Amino acid sequence: MGKPNLGTNASSQAANEATTVDPIVVMQGVHKHFGKLHVLRGIDTNIMLGQVVVVCGPSGCGKSTMLRCINGLEPIDSGDIVVDGITVKNKKRLIELRTETGMVFQQFNLFPHKTVLENVVMAPIDVRKIPKKEAYDLGRKLLSRVGILEKEDDMPASLSGGQQQRVAIARGLAMNPKLMMFDEPTSALDPEMIKEVLDVMRDLAREGMTMIVVTHEMGFAREVADRIMMMDEGIIIEDRPPKDFFDCPEHDRTCQFLSQIISH
Ligand SMILES: Nc1ncnc2c1ncn2[C@@H]1O[C@H](COP(=O)(O)OP(=O)(O)OP(=O)(O)O)[C@@H](O)[C@H]1O
Ligand SMILES: [Mg+2]
Repeated sequence: MGKPNLGTNASSQAANEATTVDPIVVMQGVHKHFGKLHVLRGIDTNIMLGQVVVVCGPSGCGKSTMLRCINGLEPIDSGDIVVDGITVKNKKRLIELRTETGMVFQQFNLFPHKTVLENVVMAPIDVRKIPKKEAYDLGRKLLSRVGILEKEDDMPASLSGGQQQRVAIARGLAMNPKLMMFDEPTSALDPEMIKEVLDVMRDLAREGMTMIVVTHEMGFAREVADRIMMMDEGIIIEDRPPKDFFDCPEHDRTCQFLSQIISH
């Protein structure tokens, strides 16, 4: 049996029928301003356990802001976001919420004065209070999983961009998150390193990790995503399985966008 492949609003009936499948993220009427700038203008969507959702859209349309709101890095103005039963409005549970959602950024954000392995084990030791030996064993296992165990004692600066990004993924996984979010994880990488990072992400998806991936890597999206969302000016204008997204997008805006990124 394949992974759940439920859409958004229209899928509520299907979601009711598939009783074993729960939404891990529920977003309802989410609005967010930065001063006068209305950045998220009514986001409504459900993401089901095990789904891989690719998010694309023009610069400034609110993709990063949406991810940051999902793990509580940015407060929302109205509506609600519930991640695995925890509402982002409950400030007392923000740490819990963040441990449930691993986040990987474009610029790796590794701690430069810690070794590769230390970067991976810090949060499990400090936040999850895992005993050191157990955390180091877990850290090595995760470094091996992203194919970089031989670098465990090196400093991040001595690694290539692709290697650093794989460490960042291992670090995200170390908190045993229910959801992994990636914000343009390959856009700062040289072309030959993009593949090694996408391969790790593809493996994660195959293992059933729920993932939200902001990326313009459309080959990856076509192959791995259950749904592709297109955002424009703070709303989701398209949300469909890859085949439909590429073959018959609903909006002219999507066609325009696709022709721009595919011609580059
Ligand atoms: N902390 C902030 N303070 C003020 N404005 C912000 C802040 N963060 C984002 N914005 C603005 O909100 C809008 C949406 O930004 P966001 O980073 O979510 O866009 P994006 O879709 O991720 O774009 P890109 O593809 O360039 O990464 C932009 O106009 C941006 O300048
Ligand atoms: Mg962004």
